[in-house]
Amino acid sequence: MAEFQAPKGVPEYFPPRSSAFLAVREALAHPARCAGYGYIELPVFEDTSLFVRGVGESTDVVSKEMYTFLDRGGRSLSLRPEGTAGVMRSIVENRLDKGALPVKLWYAGPFFRAERPQHGRYRQLQQVGLEAVGSDDPALDAEVIAVADEAYRRLGLSAYRLDLTSLGCAECRPAYREQLMAFLERCDLDAATRERAASNPLRVLDDKRESVQAQLVDVPVMVDALCEACSTHYDAVREFLRDASVEWSEAPRLVRGLDYYTRTTFEFTHEMLGAQSGIGGGGRYDGLMESLGGASLSGIGFGLGTDRTLLACEAEGLDVAADGLVDVFVVPIGPAARRVAVGVATQLRGAGIRVDMAYGDRGLKGSMKAADRSGAPLVVVIGDDEVQSSSAQIKNMADGAQETVTLESLVADVGARLSQKGTL
Ligand code: HAM
Repeated sequence: MAEFQAPKGVPEYFPPRSSAFLAVREALAHPARCAGYGYIELPVFEDTSLFVRGVGESTDVVSKEMYTFLDRGGRSLSLRPEGTAGVMRSIVENRLDKGALPVKLWYAGPFFRAERPQHGRYRQLQQVGLEAVGSDDPALDAEVIAVADEAYRRLGLSAYRLDLTSLGCAECRPAYREQLMAFLERCDLDAATRERAASNPLRVLDDKRESVQAQLVDVPVMVDALCEACSTHYDAVREFLRDASVEWSEAPRLVRGLDYYTRTTFEFTHEMLGAQSGIGGGGRYDGLMESLGGASLSGIGFGLGTDRTLLACEAEGLDVAADGLVDVFVVPIGPAARRVAVGVATQLRGAGIRVDMAYGDRGLKGSMKAADRSGAPLVVVIGDDEVQSSSAQIKNMADGAQETVTLESLVADVGARLSQKGTL
């Protein structure tokens, strides 16, 4: 075993799988850019109190899973467990809400939760997320959900579903909460569950145990207790989702692990991922910015799990990074050819073509083996004859066809062959 290992529960992506990771991240971000979201690069750690107040003190994410430490000045900082609170902080601090509304931002990167590691559940997890702040328009809810749906569809995923519900607002939630607590008091629950029912009763709906679920058959649900405004909003969101051709299932018992959600709330799950099936989720958080000292602006967003989306693509057998690492592999034979090859490789790279070359004195056979391993569709061979005549041979690895071209026209010739193949 190696002397050093990556920390427990932290996945690493290295070639060849890292190409698929990058392709997934790009596919998840692309629809956000297409919908007018600007990029925000957030700090990886923030004041602990931002997450305590923003995400909720009673959530597992904050109370059990945060990586919290004191810096050298004695301030309590935490590695970010999620992105929404940080985006709100940045909008308020940098007065991004003083211009046109809604403010639309997307982000990507690692988040940290000290969960028990298992397949698809990591302590350093990657997300692509977005937030839209400053509009109550239900068409914006539909946009956010449609952007997420497009991201998965773009990758070719099909074995996933969208669960949707409304969690109400500060007007109607308290009365529902009372109703739910009264119901749970009549159930036969163990002490820990009873405690949860008293502090965060919605969480009990999420209890996976058969003995608990059996008692929840007639449990009151939020969607039946929505106030007029929330009910109208939810109807409109569903109309707009139909207009956007997004399919969903009603999930009246959907519970999210973060406290800030109001109204529209959703989760995407993939059916081939076992216990860790959530590939993305989000919703409205209409009181969040105000609770963090900002203006009273509503917001909605999502976080899509990059690691789990990659696992979902692999489970469905999707080849998301079909083109390998390089387009061209240069093979020089002899010292004079090597000098020409370095120039050729640099020139091709300068033209935006991905190029690797044979290093070390491996001879033709060893070099061609390296070329084969590289997966490059084209190999450029330069020997003594070619050096003499300022030319090179281009070999097409798919059919073995070989052609001699002048060094002068090499970049154009390689480019033409690659665009024929659709590589460029
Ligand atoms: P979340 O549901 O906690 O939401 O996380 C979003 C996604 O991140 C999950 O659906 C899952 O795919 C992935 N994820 C979460 N925890 C792990 C883990 N331990 N290992 C692997 N993947 C994980 C949020 O974080 C909210 N900030 C989303 C949001 C944005 N809501 C409104 N705006």
